[in-house]
Formats: sequence, C-alpha cells, structure tokens
Amino acid sequence: MHPEVWRASGHADHFSDPLVECKGCHMRWREDQLDTQSCQNCGGELTEPRQFNQMLTTNLGPVQDDSSLTFLRPETAQGIFVNFQNVLTSTRRKLPFGIAQVGKAFRNEITTGNFIFRTREFEIMEIEYFVKPGEDEDSHRNWIDDCMSWYQGLGIDPVQLRSRPHDVKELAHYSKATSDIEYQFPWGWGEIQGIANRSDFDLHAHSEASGETLSYFDEETHSHITPYVIEPSSGVDRTVMAFLVDAYTEEEVPAASGKIEKRVLLKLHPTLAPIKVAILPLSRNEKLAPLARDVHDTVRRSGIIDGLIQYDDAQSIGRRYRRQDEVGTPICVTVDFDSLDDNAVTIRDRDTMKQERLPIDQLLSELPQRLT
Ligand code: GAP
Repeated sequence: MHPEVWRASGHADHFSDPLVECKGCHMRWREDQLDTQSCQNCGGELTEPRQFNQMLTTNLGPVQDDSSLTFLRPETAQGIFVNFQNVLTSTRRKLPFGIAQVGKAFRNEITTGNFIFRTREFEIMEIEYFVKPGEDEDSHRNWIDDCMSWYQGLGIDPVQLRSRPHDVKELAHYSKATSDIEYQFPWGWGEIQGIANRSDFDLHAHSEASGETLSYFDEETHSHITPYVIEPSSGVDRTVMAFLVDAYTEEEVPAASGKIEKRVLLKLHPTLAPIKVAILPLSRNEKLAPLARDVHDTVRRSGIIDGLIQYDDAQSIGRRYRRQDEVGTPICVTVDFDSLDDNAVTIRDRDTMKQERLPIDQLLSELPQRLT
C-alpha cells in the first residue's frame, strides 16, 4: 500500500519490538521473549533494548530512491480502514457492522521459529467491527467470549485455552484495550488471536492525513460520528497449528496379534477433518470392489457430505484404519463379504474404534448426523 497509509496509521514509526544484542556472540533477541536477562545462546551480557521496526520495505517502479519506497502490509486492517467510506456507501450498512479480510501479511521479525508459529510471511484473517462510541466496551467483551467459544466449538480443549488482557505497557499504539487468546503449545502459552478495541484511532488518523471524511451519519442523533472499532485478528497459520497440536493423540491399543501397539490419531473436529469419510473394501476381490465403488459413488454424488470422501483399497484393512486415523478421518465405512449378502456395511468411529453394522440404504441419513 501507499507509504502514506502506513505513516498515517502509525506503523512506519511505532510498529516495533524491543531488540537486544549479545555483547559476546552478537546474537539478537526480542527482549520481551527472553526468559533471562542474559543471552540464550552463550549466556553473555545483553545491550540495552532499542526499538526495531518490523515493517518490510521494497521499491516499486524503475527508480530505487526514497520516492519509490513501499511497505508490505503487516496486517489487512489498514486496507479496510482506507476503504471504509467506499464500503459504507456501496453497502448502506447500519452500525454495528463488520468488514472481514484474509490475506498475506509480512513482518521483519527479529527471530522466527517454533515451526509455523512465528514466520516473516504469514496469513492473517481480520474483522474490523464498527460500533457506536460508547458501545465499544460491551462489544469488545462479547467478541472475546464469542471467539473463545468458536475455538471450543471446533474441539479445542478448554484447559489449553485462555484469554489474557494486555497490561497498559503491552498495548499497541492504536489500542484502548486488547485481550489475546492464547493456546498452550508444547513450549508454553502462545498468542493465536488478538482482540483489540482500536477506538476511533484509525479512522481519525486516515481522515486527518488524507483530508477525506471517514464518518457515519447516525440517523438517531442526526449527527456524523466516527465509529469505534473492535478487531478480532487471527493468524491462520497459528490457528491451524493449535488445532493440529490439540488433535494430535498417541495411545496404546491391543493389536490383532494381541500385543499392545501405539496408535497415532488426529482427533480433529469433523468440520475440520479434510477427509470426512473413507470407503474401504475389505480386499480388492472382484466381487467386493464393484459394491464398494457403488457405495462410494452413491455417497459422493448425493452431495450430503461437505468435504472429501476417499476410496482406499491399498494394503491391509488394519493399515488403512491407521492411515485414516493419522489424517483425522472421523468415519470409515468397510465393505466386506457379508455385505454382498446382507447389503450392510461396517461403520468405524475414529476416536472410539467402535464398529457398527448398518444397512447401506441408511448410510445417506446416518453419515451427516455422525459428522455434526
Ligand atoms: N491488526 C492487529 C494485528 O495485526 P497482531 O496481534 O500483531 O494484531 C494478529 O497479529 C495475529 O497474527 C496474531 O494473533 C498471530 O496469530 C498472527 N501473527 C502475528 N505475527 C505473526 C508471525 N510473525 N507469524 C505468524 N503469525 C503471526
């Protein structure tokens, strides 16, 4: 976006982290992420913190000078604010209403790591929710509660989830109040979402810098107001990671041989599971395969399953169950030799491994119920 947008928003000056450097090995660290006051690499003494700006820059056009300097966006929010008036006049929404956007974001992080938790290029999804001034604090509380419920509704263990209000020193330059939703990763608590009350900071700042009006006509009071903004902002990568870590399970189960073996499964909520149902013929036998294909095609063509239905006939049935467990498929449907006579199949539940016999003609009503 145009650099003036990032100057007006305050990012060009204030979007920074406290950087410290080891006087011995010269490794650089984010001061607020260090457990100790010394270098985590060699234990050496650290410099005093200085502010390090996270904005990534490039030059647009054929000439590389200050006039062609451009910032890569560190959030989608500012694109929403500068388009506020366009959206308002074209959609004629009444307050409260929200504008949502998902897309790439770029930050020059001092340190990256913990797999996809902190990267310099990531995917962000944000809602800017515009409310009347005075209604912002209630709305902020509601959004925090709703977002907490969203994660739990999709299966995240409530014990591993918390919301943590920022103390005043932690608040970003635009924020009146912020709560982070944090997940307990294997290395400790980490932010997966920030929910900020941005007040009218951004609309005011862009209006002032551009000379354009960014306001809303309130028909109740017959006056122009600048709405307040509540902003739930999530990293897609961190959210995906939290769901994967939470779903990853190892357990001990008796094998066919009678020995105890390790079972690895992803206990993904059915809504999140990429493969919803796997259709498995017990073997590649020439009589079984057409029936299994038929079951697969019937379920698929019915359109009742919102997601992938996989046909898998490679290797032993035990191995195929394990494979589906590992990718989190909630239901396996097994077509066996009895199916040729009784027109029924075996339904296996991923988490309990319980198996039930079900007539094929009941599949279309049963499967959607079991996936909700
Ligand atoms: N517009 C507000 C905003 O950008 P933020 O807390 O700086 O707020 C929002 O970022 C979310 O983006 C975070 O909660 C996190 O999930 C994700 N995020 C931030 N920096 C990240 C990074 N370097 N790598 C991956 N995700 C990141």
